[in-house]
Amino acid sequence: MINALRGMKDLLFDEAERYRYITETAARIAERYGFGYIETPILEETRLFKRSVGESSDIVGKEMYQFTDKGGNDVCLRPEGTAGVVRAFVQAKLDRQQGQKYRFYYFGPMFRYERPQKGRLRQFHQFGVESFGEAAVEEDFTLIRMLADIFDALGIRYTVKINSLGCEACRPPYRESLVAHLRDIEDGLCEDCRRRIATNPIRVLDCKNKSCQNLLREAPRITDNLCESCDRDFDRLKKLLSDGGISHEVDPNLVRGLDYYTGTAFEFVSDEIGAQSAIAGGGRYDRLVEFLGGRPTPGIGFAIGIERIMELVQMPQKTRRGWYLGTMVPEGIETVLDLTHELRKKGDTALVEYQPRGLKGLLKGADRAGARYCAVLGEDELQNGTIWIKDLEEKSERVVPLKELKS
Ligand code: HAM
Repeated sequence: MINALRGMKDLLFDEAERYRYITETAARIAERYGFGYIETPILEETRLFKRSVGESSDIVGKEMYQFTDKGGNDVCLRPEGTAGVVRAFVQAKLDRQQGQKYRFYYFGPMFRYERPQKGRLRQFHQFGVESFGEAAVEEDFTLIRMLADIFDALGIRYTVKINSLGCEACRPPYRESLVAHLRDIEDGLCEDCRRRIATNPIRVLDCKNKSCQNLLREAPRITDNLCESCDRDFDRLKKLLSDGGISHEVDPNLVRGLDYYTGTAFEFVSDEIGAQSAIAGGGRYDRLVEFLGGRPTPGIGFAIGIERIMELVQMPQKTRRGWYLGTMVPEGIETVLDLTHELRKKGDTALVEYQPRGLKGLLKGADRAGARYCAVLGEDELQNGTIWIKDLEEKSERVVPLKELKS
């Protein structure tokens, strides 16, 4: 037997339905906010992720599905969606249209070679959005509002965490004072943290190790070291969220695992799914379009981890729908096939049992298929040009002329 690879899974039946329900609900809400659908390739040049997600990130450093293709290109399966969308944005020269705003949503598989555990897969799915050209902090608020709308529509409870990661004016001096502090406590830090002091000191704040966390308590906080403009935006964001009834916590250790962020960063977490509690994350990336060769364009987005919310989603009650058709006499099958085709043309769901069966068997088939109506052609009906129909929802029966059903 050949099984799916470790950390990769099939979505069958209920899970497949949940996946569709989540993406459809999120897409509907994103469209209300003026976002349009975008699809980008799953395979991209490795350099795209090195330049955007960052060489010092775990994602690029350890988790990429990277290989050389037959043409000798260094490629990898996308570990996230933002980089590809930004590449597409620059490639389509949308960065040259000054003052224009572009808003996209997408969903699909992402790949990270992580150690699989509950809530952490090697192939997982995200629903994400990216907004280009809008620098106002109101857009940050609007994206958080939209994410809250999506989770509310799906019946999912969450906590919102926000932070500001500063800009090119305030981040470098902050980084310096952080590094100075980290050098002082270096001996007590774990190996990962010690390595990161040089490569990505801000990520040290995010270490899950308890003894590191204790030592980091006295570390300078980015939120105390923001420049005037970042500080003003962050205050405004907090006010907009409070006024909008979105409760939130400021978490100065929320640094995100991707290097492209500037300014607002946020995560939605759930306390109902175990250790991997982040159900969505995002933030601003005002330099990323430039990093990828475009003209300076502000950007902000988020992505939801679909598998993480799969079990939490309140699905609408299932209702019986469509038709299940069959015949009790072998000569009836052509009439049944013809009728089925007419029903499908009208937009109804219709399934057929090809073998002649007794009434009991056909009703059982209809029940299993979740059909609302079971339509059966018996000998009398075949002669009269009628068909017997049972409504499995209302438990009523009737005989109707075939012509009537077709029209
Ligand atoms: P991220 O925080 O790396 O952000 O991923 C977003 C969400 O994907 C996480 O909150 C989590 O729910 C889910 N996720 C991540 N890794 C896994 C995994 N191994 N297994 C299952 N679920 C996972 C990004 O990817 C950014 N591109 C988000 C963004 C969009 N920022 C701006 N625009």
